[in-house]
Amino acid sequence: MYRIVEKRELAKGVDEFVVEAPEISRKAKPGQFVIVRVVSRGERIPLTIADVDPESGTVTLMVQRVGKSTYHLSCFEEGNSLRDIVGPLGKPTEIKKWGHVVAVGGGLGLAPIHHICKGIKEAGNRLTVIMGFRSKDLIFWEDRMRLMADDLIITTNDGSYGKKGLVTDALKEVIEKDKVDAVICAGPVPMMKAVAELTRPYGIYTVASLNPIMVDGTGMCGACRVTVGGEVKFACVDGPEFDAHQVDFDELMNRLRMFRDKEEIAMRRFQE
Ligand code: FES
Repeated sequence: MYRIVEKRELAKGVDEFVVEAPEISRKAKPGQFVIVRVVSRGERIPLTIADVDPESGTVTLMVQRVGKSTYHLSCFEEGNSLRDIVGPLGKPTEIKKWGHVVAVGGGLGLAPIHHICKGIKEAGNRLTVIMGFRSKDLIFWEDRMRLMADDLIITTNDGSYGKKGLVTDALKEVIEKDKVDAVICAGPVPMMKAVAELTRPYGIYTVASLNPIMVDGTGMCGACRVTVGGEVKFACVDGPEFDAHQVDFDELMNRLRMFRDKEEIAMRRFQE
């Protein structure tokens, strides 16, 4: 059992959990994820590791309430325990001293971006972070990102905070006025696709942290299948990060929609 030592609501529908998981906190590297089961017969929920603290033996996870299992998880409070956590899973981010790196996080995509940014800074890179949200009330972790980033840009779709517009508007401005050596992005699939299309003509090395449906997380079930450079890859073992210019984002979007009806039914039953 994995005890929740802290829980807070970061923004509407988004919770942060700090959970005791000493072995995972010692081993986890930026870019990796865990699979959580809330109860013994519960669905397996893939969650990116947003942060680790090996000294206190904790991992920080962010959860967006989007379906039955994530709503169930959000009912857990400090002092409660989760049934099991498997991890760290997936390949760590390949981090080098690139020079100037721009990290782009949209909404919950900030979870992987936060942990990856720690690694990027430790490797001696200059770091610009672009955080994108729909509106001011959905913003979280500005303080934590400000501590790491050499430059921090926040965008909101409605202009209620920071720059009005999309993360790609801000990214384009950065690319046009500064030399950018690498871009790493995580967030909604259309956002990652737009980032990839923006950087492609500039020839900037771009990595996307993908968020497909996952079940086992060990390469056995095939649920997380993605096409990268015309080849089938399994995000849980071959990723979750891939060369964004090679990813078939349209296929990924279609696969994410596959179980939407079933998810809605499960959610309705959970709320009854
Ligand atoms: Fe089953 Fe990746 S989650 S193969």
